[in-house]
Amino acid sequence: MGLLTGDALFSVALAVAVFLLLVDLMHRWQRWAARYPPGPVPVPGLGNLLQVDFEDMAYSCYKLQQRFGDVFSLQFAWTPVVVVNGVKAVREALVNHGEDTSDRPTLPSSTLLGFGPKSQGVFGAYYGPAWREQRRFSVSTLRNFGVGKKSLEQWVTEEAACLCAAFANHAGQPFCPKALLNKAVCNVISSLIYARRFDYDDPMVLRLLEFLEDSLREDFSLKIQVVNSMPLLLRIPWVAAKVLPAQRSFMALNNELLAEHNTGWAPDQPPRDLTDAFLTEMHKAQGNSESTFNDQNLRLLLFELFVAGMGTSAVTLSWALLLMILHPDVQRRVQQEIDEVIGQGRRPEMEDQARMPFTNAVIHEVQRFADIVPMGVPHMTSRDTEVQGFLIPKGTMLLTNLSSVLKDGTVWEKPLHFHPGHFLDAEGRFVKREAFMPFSAGPRICLGEPLARMVLFLFFTSLLQHFSFSVPEGQPRPSDRGVPAFVVTPSPYQLCAVLR
Ligand code: HEM
Repeated sequence: MGLLTGDALFSVALAVAVFLLLVDLMHRWQRWAARYPPGPVPVPGLGNLLQVDFEDMAYSCYKLQQRFGDVFSLQFAWTPVVVVNGVKAVREALVNHGEDTSDRPTLPSSTLLGFGPKSQGVFGAYYGPAWREQRRFSVSTLRNFGVGKKSLEQWVTEEAACLCAAFANHAGQPFCPKALLNKAVCNVISSLIYARRFDYDDPMVLRLLEFLEDSLREDFSLKIQVVNSMPLLLRIPWVAAKVLPAQRSFMALNNELLAEHNTGWAPDQPPRDLTDAFLTEMHKAQGNSESTFNDQNLRLLLFELFVAGMGTSAVTLSWALLLMILHPDVQRRVQQEIDEVIGQGRRPEMEDQARMPFTNAVIHEVQRFADIVPMGVPHMTSRDTEVQGFLIPKGTMLLTNLSSVLKDGTVWEKPLHFHPGHFLDAEGRFVKREAFMPFSAGPRICLGEPLARMVLFLFFTSLLQHFSFSVPEGQPRPSDRGVPAFVVTPSPYQLCAVLR
């Protein structure tokens, strides 16, 4: 058979182009539906992929919000996306229409980590019975943990003391606190799920942290976006073998820890930790084919709790210390409150929080200003819904721009400045704010919020009870601009921790 030339080649090319254009149109017909949110014009095949800066989505969305308003649409290749901005629209979407907006998009790559119909974990689970069962289990186990051998608060307080001892080892010399904060938070999560902690120089903790850091980066790599858009690629063994290497190493390490842990489990003993509580549920569910309490789901849930809990809490503490060295006046007022309410003679307790409005306001303002998960976690609509009068069809990916809420100029007096006064009234009492949404809102709100609050309060007060923090002499004042990413970290900095 001869090669196609001239007219024949042209006809084939035209037919392919028309076919692709039709497929493309099929995927974005809904843009022409009445009341579909406005947005930049997508190009065939790629949609708006080249018009958005994935390295700094929050800034891209800020510019698009100025152009198109609080609810606008995008197209990621063939995936329709709606971005919701500002406190009113985000609350309407997540809270008022929570039943319609709480699904998660499908991520074919997660099957490599064991994701399946009866093992969806909780973070990436579809909005349905499997998610509901695991969410209820996780929330109630966290809440009830006071009944175990050691209450969670006691674990966190003891870890705070270890962290202070490690800070003291630096003897007032400059150091970067990131690694120690990571290790301390890793131990809190590990206490919760394995009832054990690691010494800060234990090789296991170093490996866990290394894989964790790479895992967070992996989720947003181009490689992952490509295989998730073309899942057939995952059927090619050498492609599949190259996807999510850090997350799989993390899972393998977790399996080792789980194997060690499970040798000490006895069904008739009270649970030592969350894993024991899960194993007890598995034992009860034997023979129930509907149950999501199975081995594979336990592995996925533990992985998710580690990943979701560690990065976020340690990064927030890193922001807190940075903001204290940049605002020594605020630091002094926190220390003054600690001295008045707790003193130097005992360890901080959660009960102290109610009598420490200034410290509480500072921690809230750290979270607002640091804005560490600026674009939230992607949702998906499970039914047609309406936000601010716009129609969002079923199956649309929904990005909730939490940054636009935490920095909403119509709500906060000084949205771009660190200002603890945002959470204080004229009498210096702590005030809650509706637009304080670092943990998101609605049915999918962060389930680790109570634990995160405990870690932030007890670590922060313990550190400021023992140390005064400052910018090392001769070093320039560090920047308070974050490094844009899915989880925004502060730019690298050093501090001096001098015993008080
Ligand atoms: C400062 C610390 C933290 C911040 C800022 C934070 C923030 C968030 C955000 C924004 C979401 C997405 C909610 C949504 O989909 O709309 C989320 C979900 C989640 N977080 Fe956190 N988080 C923190 C700490 C933790 C901790 C300590 C844990 C557990 C140990 C945890 C476990 C989870 C889980 C399991 C989900 C998924 C919930 C679901 O899909 O139902 N987080 N978090």
